[in-house]
Amino acid sequence: MAVATAPTAPTQTFEVRRFDAPVGAEIIGLDISKPINEVDFARIHRAHLDHHVLVFRDQRVAPADHVAFSRRFGPLEIHVLHQFQLQGQPEILIVSNIKEKGEPIGLGDAGVYWHSDISYKDKPSLGSLLHAQELPSEGGDTLFADQHLAWEALDPALQKRILGLKAEHSYLAKYEELRARNPWRPKLSQAQIDQVAPAIQPVVRTHPETGRKALFVSEHFTTRIVGLPQDESEALLGELFAHSVKPEFVYRHQWAPHDLVFWDNRSLMHLAAGTPDALRRKLYRTTIQGDTPF
Ligand code: SIN
Repeated sequence: MAVATAPTAPTQTFEVRRFDAPVGAEIIGLDISKPINEVDFARIHRAHLDHHVLVFRDQRVAPADHVAFSRRFGPLEIHVLHQFQLQGQPEILIVSNIKEKGEPIGLGDAGVYWHSDISYKDKPSLGSLLHAQELPSEGGDTLFADQHLAWEALDPALQKRILGLKAEHSYLAKYEELRARNPWRPKLSQAQIDQVAPAIQPVVRTHPETGRKALFVSEHFTTRIVGLPQDESEALLGELFAHSVKPEFVYRHQWAPHDLVFWDNRSLMHLAAGTPDALRRKLYRTTIQGDTPF
């Protein structure tokens, strides 16, 4: 199992290969279950800041390794849908369309709308790591949209208009609509509802490590721009949602067996493109806690 710090571990030989896409890179040759020394860790950290989404290939590792590696980047979130925690490993959310004895084993419609993980909390997530367990023979891709590029490509007049604006993000915004479509989604208890009170976030955030600005609104969680009449707020959000996911900002990940994908929620939004109902898909997700956006 990976250890929290391993200053004297031997260097691992691995390559960082940038994708032929607006964003993203793959890491070939690293085994996250082996001790990772500070020099290798610094390389991985730098690659994550530069490319925003890293695909660690061929990670035949246990859930405990996934959790230990994730913890090197910060404390982990426990998802509000505790119904879909991996048994014995509460830091792992099961993302899956599989039903056993008629019951869902995981969150089957995770990521059906563009979003950045946990933006509905005062301290949204730094990043998430999704590990392939069982993949469909077709479909099941995950898309990532670079919100730094989206910000930089905005018309300067619109940039000026939105800089300094704030927006509300709510986990509950689409919950009942999704539940109506997917009745297996659990009814939330009052304790769960209390955990996800809406948060107010800047519409444009600054990455705390690189200083780059990024758009920070999403069709899944952003409900309104604070201080604007409803019609103006809806029109502005509609324009920003459409702009933020233009193809020129997007990398489409086609999963390979044992991929572990680590994305930066401060830089990207992501979307699950969908899996045919008859095909099984199962992944394990950890989510790293982040800072208050500014
Ligand atoms: C997620 O939004 O965390 C899940 C993405 C996916 O299943 O591809």
